[in-house]
Amino acid sequence: MTSVLITGGHSGIGLAAARTLAARGTDLVLAGRSPDRMRRTAGELSADHGVSVTTLALDTSSLASVRSAAAGFRAMLDSGEVSGLDALVCNAGGRFDGDVSYSPDGYETTFATNCLGHFLLVELLFPHLAGTGRVVYTASGTHDRDSMDGRLVGATVEPDAVALAAHGKDGGRVLSAGKRYSTSKLCTVMYAYELDRRLRRADSAVSSIAFDPGSVPDTGFLRALPKPVRWVSRTAALNWVSKRVGVTTSDVDFSGASLAALAVDPRYADASGAYFQAHDGTLSAVRSARLSYDERRAARLWDDSRRLVHLTDEEEPTPLR
Ligand SMILES: NC(=O)c1ccc[n+]([C@@H]2O[C@H](COP(=O)([O-])OP(=O)(O)OC[C@H]3O[C@@H](n4cnc5c(N)ncnc54)[C@H](OP(=O)(O)O)[C@@H]3O)[C@@H](O)[C@H]2O)c1
Repeated sequence: MTSVLITGGHSGIGLAAARTLAARGTDLVLAGRSPDRMRRTAGELSADHGVSVTTLALDTSSLASVRSAAAGFRAMLDSGEVSGLDALVCNAGGRFDGDVSYSPDGYETTFATNCLGHFLLVELLFPHLAGTGRVVYTASGTHDRDSMDGRLVGATVEPDAVALAAHGKDGGRVLSAGKRYSTSKLCTVMYAYELDRRLRRADSAVSSIAFDPGSVPDTGFLRALPKPVRWVSRTAALNWVSKRVGVTTSDVDFSGASLAALAVDPRYADASGAYFQAHDGTLSAVRSARLSYDERRAARLWDDSRRLVHLTDEEEPTPLR
């Protein structure tokens, strides 16, 4: 039986992916910070598809929560509640509008939530991944400052983990929420590529894949924006205009099914190191931002992230060193 852990699997693209996975007989662990909604979703998915769906408390913005979730997952494996881990889907995330805020560890919320939490989760759960398992990261086309997606949301800045974690603390000019978001997704793509390079060096058969679901209006993603803006974002007219100006557009079911396929479908068994984009009903491997291929920057991002999450030698699996 295939088994997948997905963060943010109770809503939006993650829920659509979870539904697809459950329908193809995959056991699931839904990891997230909304226990009631997760339990409800787990109940529905297991009743509809006869698979095992468990829930795991995880707030990706808190390093303590990530460590406790990893310990909880290990306990589930030990007790037999979960049968294994064939794919780890790092999907939770968001754009945090309003004033810059900080995680319990004192790191800027967007970078802590979208980047550092998943970075640590991958390190801690890697030893439990199947030998041919997959790590799939939900990134975003906004990570590419040369694309329309990137220009509309806000061009990325330098993917410097230390600066991004401390952003706003030096009294300097503060980045917009859009730029904080797009830059966090550039870092996400770079984590996926750097993980792939480390795995290849270690002769591992585990895959690391980056995914852009496209612009998907019908999720909770824009929840912080005013109601009229959210309403407009869902109209057919805006979808038409978005396509005309070159935005990468998709819908929640297609993007969720694409994410599920990247996690378990044999068609993507050799996809490690690639960046996939869902666009208008097609999922294809495409080029990501020029900067995302910078190996020196990616290695630094990885090493700085390792320090920011206070990773100990015991916690770090050998292939990822
Ligand atoms: N929708 C788009 O247009 C779009 C485009 C490109 C990329 N994406 C990416 O797609 C992914 C899914 O987003 P979505 O569009 O499906 O929006 P969504 O419905 O808001 O889903 C986001 C999920 O992330 C979870 N999450 C947020 N902060 C968290 C935290 N600190 N700890 C644990 N879970 C947390 C949310 O949990 P709660 O319900 O508890 O808040 C929710 O389950 C995100 O990574 C997003 O950046 C979305």
